Amino acid sequence: MTEANKEEFPAEEMPAIRKEMSRRQFLSYTLGGTGAFLMTLPFVVNLRFAVDPLLQERAGSEWVKVVEADKITETPQSFSFQKRVVDGWYKSEPKMEAWIARDENGEIFALSPICKHLGCTVNWNGSPNHPNEYYCPCHGAHYTKEGKALAIAPEPLDEYEVMVDNGFVYLGNLKPNERV
Ligand code: FES
Repeated sequence: MTEANKEEFPAEEMPAIRKEMSRRQFLSYTLGGTGAFLMTLPFVVNLRFAVDPLLQERAGSEWVKVVEADKITETPQSFSFQKRVVDGWYKSEPKMEAWIARDENGEIFALSPICKHLGCTVNWNGSPNHPNEYYCPCHGAHYTKEGKALAIAPEPLDEYEVMVDNGFVYLGNLKPNERV
């Protein structure tokens, strides 16, 4: 607006001055906005990846039907089964094993065969030197029928959650041994 125009209009009647955006400003805003969007995109995607597994239903709480309850005796027997495992984005159905027996009250319990020393597999009556015990062939750890560690291993064998329903034994998650 020229000085002549300013004199023509009183201040309150001055026409609005139209601000034109220069080509340089337009490019600066456009490229800046696009750059900011592209910089935040990986963060948003990674945040989704990080949080999503936490939002998933934990499939580890599923029960697996393993064996008829009347087949379980006081002597531990080994049973294999498959359990669906969801760990974040990774889903699998590993083959698992449990030693299942009845205690002196007739209650059914199930132990993990994984030795608590370094992870080998224990066997019931696995050594003639340790009758009526679980024995680990790797370094000689041995355990009572209820999983109590007697040598080498620092902890008792883990036990499975057990549910008996309609004549069948179902196994759930592994948990620290609460029997010993
Ligand atoms: S892994 Fe079982 S005794 Fe070492």
